[in-house]
Amino acid sequence: MSRRGPCMSLVVHITGARPNFPKAAPVIDAIARLGGGEVRQRLVHTGQHYDEKMSDVFFRQLGLPEPDVNLGVGSGTHAAQTAAVMVGLENLFLEERPDVVVVYGDVNSTVAAALVAAKLQIPLAHVEAGLRSFDPTMPEEVNRLVTDRLSDVLLCTSADAVAHLGNEGVAPERIHLVGNPMIDTLLAHLDAFDVDAARAAHQLEGRYAVATLHRPANVDAGPDAQALVATLHAAADQVQVVLPLHPRGRATLEEAGLFKHPGILVCDPLGYVEFLGLVRGADVVITDSGGVQEETTVLGVPCLTLRPNTERPVTITHGTNRLVTREDLPRQVGIALAADRSTHKVPPLWDGQAGPRIAEVLVGAYA
Ligand code: UD1
Ligand code: UDP
Repeated sequence: MSRRGPCMSLVVHITGARPNFPKAAPVIDAIARLGGGEVRQRLVHTGQHYDEKMSDVFFRQLGLPEPDVNLGVGSGTHAAQTAAVMVGLENLFLEERPDVVVVYGDVNSTVAAALVAAKLQIPLAHVEAGLRSFDPTMPEEVNRLVTDRLSDVLLCTSADAVAHLGNEGVAPERIHLVGNPMIDTLLAHLDAFDVDAARAAHQLEGRYAVATLHRPANVDAGPDAQALVATLHAAADQVQVVLPLHPRGRATLEEAGLFKHPGILVCDPLGYVEFLGLVRGADVVITDSGGVQEETTVLGVPCLTLRPNTERPVTITHGTNRLVTREDLPRQVGIALAADRSTHKVPPLWDGQAGPRIAEVLVGAYA
């Protein structure tokens, strides 16, 4: 990215974990188009995710610029990881003095950057503000609440998020309903999502399900992992299940016998294009991912979310998503396989133009 001239504004984007990358890509692109020579951008990778398949592949496939800085924080406890990001960013922000810091989603890198920007009195913009699961046991909910409380510009994907922020007392002029940049990325790459290639890569014949699971409540503790494996095996009695496995759950799920069912095809995490090619052709998706609930909504693929709540209720009211328990999952898989593909609506402003809307707000305010 270009060097800062005397009158240029500096926008610094903070990414670190897999779901950040498809959200940041259209925002960076749109600011470059709109801001032209007036705005300089810097992209920070905190290093929260670092495996090739959790990070680098997204930079290649999504056309993201090389990060200007990689803090290389890696894995750790919540406090250790958050603190490491904070220390790295404090140095960087003191040196660079950004005009605005942009954070994405609800991961530890997001809240760490928010805390540092707020204390240095650097304006903070949050992409995907206002989502609420109202479940304080989720670390992401803590991250969302803190990040939104500290943000100057709150960029929302859906009307429910706007309402939550209003209820929490955020001034209306700071809230912007802009749509969903993750869906900008999905629509921009739709032609690359190749179902035939996905079938060939995984040697799939006939109907199949895709599963992706990484929430602590599903994969961390032995009993939860065992219950998850039991229900996935029952699902695999009905349909082949392809499971690109997030590194978080690999050890516990393997220990719980995940690999033992012949109908479960476990693989490493997939690249963005390969994963969504697989999802596009699936008869049903089983997930606890936030982003995947949104992507299945737009692709019209039935989605069964193994969680007691969701911070993305529009994926249920408009889309194809349904919350299910572990006990009920096999029955719900059967229902999804028997059903006609339901008609679904795409939520308002999930139209591929969220990036340009975000750029309008940020360039208007800070360039
Ligand atoms: C994080 C986010 C979560 C998000 C998810 C997306 C927080 C609190 N959680 O969860 O909201 O849904 O990313 O994927 O920020 N690991 C690797 N290689 C990697 C990254 C992680 O092996 O490249 C393993 C490590 O054992 C690590 C574990 O996964 O301890 C968890 O990683 P971490 O970033 O702490 O949380 P996630 O579960 O990935
Ligand atoms: N994803 C991917 N490969 C995979 C699994 C997921 O490319 O094997 C993509 C998915 O399409 C979405 C993003 O990763 O764009 C979601 O990340 P994740 O589920 O890790 O995080 P969450 O959305 O739950 O925070």
